[in-house]
Amino acid sequence: MTAEYRDMPIDAESEQRLAAQNLSFGLVDTTDTETFSAWLRAESRGFHEANPTAELLDVSLKGVADRRTTGVWDPSAAEPLSPVSTVSSWPTALTVPGTRTVPAWAISAVTVSPTHRRRGIARAMLESELRTAARFGSAVAVLTVSEATIYSRYGFAPAAMMANWQINPRRLHWTGPDSTGRVHFVSLEQLRDEGLALVERVRLDTPGQIEFSGHLWERLLGFGSDSSGQAKNLRAVRYDDAEGVSQGFAVYRVTGTDGSFDTNVLEVDYLVAATDDAYAALWRFLIEMDLVSEVRAPLRSVREAFAWQVSDFRAVRKTLERDHLWTRILDLPVALESRAYSGQGRIVLDVSDPLGFAQGRFLLDVDAVGAGKVTPWDAVTPDGVADVSLSINEVNALYLGGVSGVTLARAGRVTENRDGSAVVLDSLFQSAVSPWLSIWF
Ligand SMILES: CC(C)(COP(=O)(O)OP(=O)(O)OC[C@H]1O[C@@H](n2cnc3c(N)ncnc32)[C@H](O)[C@@H]1OP(=O)(O)O)[C@@H](O)C(=O)NCCC(=O)NCCS
Repeated sequence: MTAEYRDMPIDAESEQRLAAQNLSFGLVDTTDTETFSAWLRAESRGFHEANPTAELLDVSLKGVADRRTTGVWDPSAAEPLSPVSTVSSWPTALTVPGTRTVPAWAISAVTVSPTHRRRGIARAMLESELRTAARFGSAVAVLTVSEATIYSRYGFAPAAMMANWQINPRRLHWTGPDSTGRVHFVSLEQLRDEGLALVERVRLDTPGQIEFSGHLWERLLGFGSDSSGQAKNLRAVRYDDAEGVSQGFAVYRVTGTDGSFDTNVLEVDYLVAATDDAYAALWRFLIEMDLVSEVRAPLRSVREAFAWQVSDFRAVRKTLERDHLWTRILDLPVALESRAYSGQGRIVLDVSDPLGFAQGRFLLDVDAVGAGKVTPWDAVTPDGVADVSLSINEVNALYLGGVSGVTLARAGRVTENRDGSAVVLDSLFQSAVSPWLSIWF
């Protein structure tokens, strides 16, 4: 991929708005170690993380150098080289229903210094990102969030939820299918070299996944983030099917070993499976581990099949279920035409979008094979066609099929302009596979 996204000019509107506060908005040259290090330190401080060690700084300098890196500086601050706001972004591909993708713009590292909060800097930065993403040609912006209260005002909504699962392995036994292949221990280094190909193979199976590699992949395996500590007790296993083809892997750790082995917790850091057979084999391996009294699986799908593969429903529970991936459609026709639909039908979407990207009335016409065609629609809604009014936030919530249109209508967030339209919305937008994103970014 060319790096043209990195060098696209700074958004003039936000630049002017910030300049009116004597702040300068600019791009960071990520080959300039001094400036980029100051930016990385400011980002860590923004999230209350420890000051990055020289080792970690070095990893980040290399790992995230290819992101579009922007900052805001206050020339009157005591440390004028240290930005008072940071944002980074890069193009990616977002999986949508129908095993396909839409061009997306990932936004990360959004911070504003505590000395400069609540004066509109984040708004200037976010609006700038959305305009830049639209100019680049991304149909959707995506992010994962620290708080669920920040991004709705820019048109984002949670499109994929996540769950933390807790399993009491001593109360249950495996009732799922037996697998015919084998589980092998592999080193993290080996997985680093060969595992990403598996992640790539399954990426299109689940709406909400994004394309990732490099820094995000290495961090998953404990490299980079804290190579001396965390990576030490991570273990990796790979599942090969009966033909010897690798079909999945899991990364886990066991903590709490106090000598008595009574309170050990097995935490599943990552598990990916290309087949149901591999999925069952890997979960069975983890759940049947000796000397473990609890299995925790954070950041998983809200609908996991393993809950149906054990003898005791009550030995498996979600300890947390919440928003995870937030999307913000920028080009509504491209975004909606990129996904497949679960039924045939026609619906007029009357969309309000205060930032203007997707404002308007659109006719979504889905054919018998689930392909959608979007047409701007100013005319009267034809007879027999459903019609709803909603804001861009609700379109985002519906986009990957993670919430029902009927639920949003009952919540007063979708208005039916014709009776029964919310049911039509559901029949079109629902996804057989629950949307899920398996990483933070
Ligand atoms: C969140 C953060 C970036 C906001 O920066 P900011 O410059 O103070 O935000 P702004 O002044 O532009 O405020 C924009 C709007 O967001 C609201 N807002 C800002 N921070 C908020 C928060 N933490 N929770 C809820 N609302 C918030 C403001 O009230 C304002 O609302 P309005 O547009 O309705 O008036 C900043 O507080 C921060 O760096 N927090 C720590 C890091 C973090 O959580 N980053 C987000 C990563 S996903």
